Amino acid sequence: MSLSTFWSELTQRNRYYLALVDEKKEIMGFGGIAFNGADADIQTMVIKPEFQKKGYGKQLLDALLEKVHENNSKRVFLEVVAENKPAISLYLSRKFEQIAKRSNYYPDGSDAVIMQLDLRSK
Ligand SMILES: CC(C)(COP(=O)(O)OP(=O)(O)OC[C@H]1O[C@@H](n2cnc3c(N)ncnc32)[C@H](O)[C@@H]1OP(=O)(O)O)[C@@H](O)C(=O)NCCC(=O)NCCS
Repeated sequence: MSLSTFWSELTQRNRYYLALVDEKKEIMGFGGIAFNGADADIQTMVIKPEFQKKGYGKQLLDALLEKVHENNSKRVFLEVVAENKPAISLYLSRKFEQIAKRSNYYPDGSDAVIMQLDLRSK
């Protein structure tokens, strides 16, 4: 994502962004959601490499999902590079399901997996 796209996302009113910071207030990671009616979309989620595999990704995702619950969203969607095993297992651990695959989705030709967390009572 380019810096200008990122800033323009931040200014949209249906967006919610959250940063995880350390004791020196340095950013360890951040994530963002867009709310569209009953649906929410995870737009971005990243933990800086030096802080990965320490549980911060789960912490960040859980904080984003808390906001989803507060907002009464019924479904949460996201797209992720099909080869991104760390992210896919993180989302699976929080009950997201793979609902579709898009071939050649990204500019570099890689495939995307579309995932959904269905919060409607079944
Ligand atoms: C995906 C990402 C946010 C995970 O953050 P993290 O802080 O490393 O994740 P956690 O330490 O909280 O781990 C949570 C779960 O993710 C999965 N996971 C994390 N790293 C993994 C790895 N290298 N291989 C496989 N699974 C992994 C595991 O299921 C793990 O749960 P477990 O520890 O109980 O097995 C991080 O790898 C990242 O920022 N990647 C680059 C950006 C990115 O791909 N963002 C997602 C775009 S949709």
